[in-house]
Amino acid sequence: MPSSVPAIEVKGLSVKFPVRGGVFGKVKDYFTAVDNVSFTLSQGKILSIVGESGCGKSTLVKSLVGLVPMASGEFKLFGNKVKDRMAGTSRVCDLVQMVFQDPFSSLNPRQTVTEILTAPLVARGVSFADAEKRARELLERVSIPAGALQKFPHEFSGGQRQRLCIARSLMVSPKVLLCDEVTSALDVSVQAQILHLLDDLRNDLGLSIIFISHDMQVVRAISDDVLVMYFGKVVECGNADEILIRPQHDYTKKLLASVPVVKRSA
Ligand SMILES: Nc1ncnc2c1ncn2[C@@H]1O[C@H](COP(=O)(O)OP(=O)(O)O)[C@@H](O)[C@H]1O
Ligand SMILES: [Mg+2]
Repeated sequence: MPSSVPAIEVKGLSVKFPVRGGVFGKVKDYFTAVDNVSFTLSQGKILSIVGESGCGKSTLVKSLVGLVPMASGEFKLFGNKVKDRMAGTSRVCDLVQMVFQDPFSSLNPRQTVTEILTAPLVARGVSFADAEKRARELLERVSIPAGALQKFPHEFSGGQRQRLCIARSLMVSPKVLLCDEVTSALDVSVQAQILHLLDDLRNDLGLSIIFISHDMQVVRAISDDVLVMYFGKVVECGNADEILIRPQHDYTKKLLASVPVVKRSA
């Protein structure tokens, strides 16, 4: 596949949520959480989506994997128009995987790491032995010792749990990762390790990554391209260096100005 074909191309995507009211909870109106958004994720690149809490970042990526319905818009994956996005069943879910903010609540506390990692492959008809072999390989890839296979999620630190979530997302060999605030619940030193891991995975596996964050320092460290959102709309989108060094829009300037600068005392 020529790498000039974008991993993801979205045009005019909108997501609307019903606003209910009255005794019978009838739909009174619709709230537009994502409003006519267009963007491109190039192959092997990291596109960060930034903006304040509630501006529609999570809703945008959830709509791509069918976790919320699109009201309108066109979504192309490696040049092919996507129609069926039923979560968990379609081909999209093998090509595109999501990793969430809170690594603890996204891992079943009653399952061992083996069960957590093998489940996506076993559900797709792969033998347990083959799934376990791949689980071992991926644990090594995310720098978790193989002894972890018999352990439960509570036996790991926050950073290790996020590594487990990343390993699980890679079990089905996706081409695109959607990372929704994956470093936001972690300590700063651990954040850096997860950013390095994502960058390595992008380089080694040729992954294309959408990286959602409200933290501009983290975005600076990892992005090739940046999409700035405000109240569901795109404010600006383009090369990360351009946008982070020479923002064109007041809103982006304000976001960047909100990053605390640590001054050394004399
Ligand atoms: N399932 C839902 N039903 C109704 N409103 C929702 C739902 N999910 C999100 N929203 C609303 O959509 C807006 C965008 O939310 P979200 O995408 O979670 O923002 P972000 O990820 O940027 O913080 C918010 O106003 C939120 O309250
Ligand atoms: Mg969110």
